[in-house]
Amino acid sequence: MSVRGITVRGSGISVPDKVVTNADLSATLDTSDEWIRERTGIKERRVGGVTSQLAIEAGRRAIEDAGLQPSDIDVVLLATTTPDALVPATSATVQAGIGIPGGAFDLNAACSGFVYGLVTAAGLAAVGSGRVLLVGAEALSRIVDWDDRTMAVLVGDGAGAVVVEPVDGPGDLISWNLGADGTLRHLLTCDHGGYLFMDGKEVFRRAVRVVVESAQRALSDAGLTASDVDLLVPHQANLRIIQAVCQRLGIPEERAAIVIDRYGNTSSASIPLALDDALRAGRVSAGDHLLLTGFGGGMTWASAVLRWGG
Ligand code: COA
Repeated sequence: MSVRGITVRGSGISVPDKVVTNADLSATLDTSDEWIRERTGIKERRVGGVTSQLAIEAGRRAIEDAGLQPSDIDVVLLATTTPDALVPATSATVQAGIGIPGGAFDLNAACSGFVYGLVTAAGLAAVGSGRVLLVGAEALSRIVDWDDRTMAVLVGDGAGAVVVEPVDGPGDLISWNLGADGTLRHLLTCDHGGYLFMDGKEVFRRAVRVVVESAQRALSDAGLTASDVDLLVPHQANLRIIQAVCQRLGIPEERAAIVIDRYGNTSSASIPLALDDALRAGRVSAGDHLLLTGFGGGMTWASAVLRWGG
């Protein structure tokens, strides 16, 4: 059987119009702009909307950016932890909203969801699928207790999407690493009808370790080292986590895509939001090595190395 890989073609995002600054939160919570900026790197976040609506807008933009029509897409793969409802899958609403023929399914790997989705899309391509619209979208504001300062200051809403296109040959995804440890599921939880809870300190401690290990495995499988990484696209949970990961991997912080200051933690959406920002800023050239890496509830972690447009 001939080898089929993937290339990423087209990117789009959608964020709610409503900007909530640290000062806005300080008006109702016992917190401050200084604490939030120093401890997390977040200055403001976007709040509002539902996951399907954000995903539809981001998806439409990605398809347009790729120069394609909705009818050119074969599968909608939506990574989210905040589906509109438990049933049906939110991807079905996205499929109908954009007018895409073919399959649709949701994937929940918490904040690692987009990278899990990228690897899944590559697997679909390998067995003969057509183009996949891969979306990471979240309406985390719907599951946050806005009276709980420990969570409210961290999260935001948004969506990012890419078109994943099958190509003959190995394609752009040159290695990946996925992992989970369900014995740590109590660290980050949200029950039916409940609010997000997080043991922030423990998540922080473990996040740096699992991301560094996962990224190193992916780089080693690709036959690369940290010095080969042109752009690190990390999950945006805390600027201090990103800085610690950069330092331990030996990747200068200037090579990281960072949007947490504007959007906060948007879970599955944060990696595609950061990737889109880097693409629009002209920070990615053909042949560049991109390292996407994230972690989240589960715990889960995921890394992927791409040779862009390779
Ligand atoms: N505003 C002001 N003070 C706050 C606060 C807030 N929003 N939240 C907590 N505090 C207080 C605490 O009560 C504590 O006070 P004390 O020293 O009097 O006890 C102090 O600030 C320090 O709290 P601590 O929890 O030790 O802060 P931290 O440096 O660990 O930062 C997080 C907290 C949540 C920002 C950090 O732990 C974190 O980012 N964790 C990982 C988050 C993450 O990755 N989540 C996503 C997973 S996908």
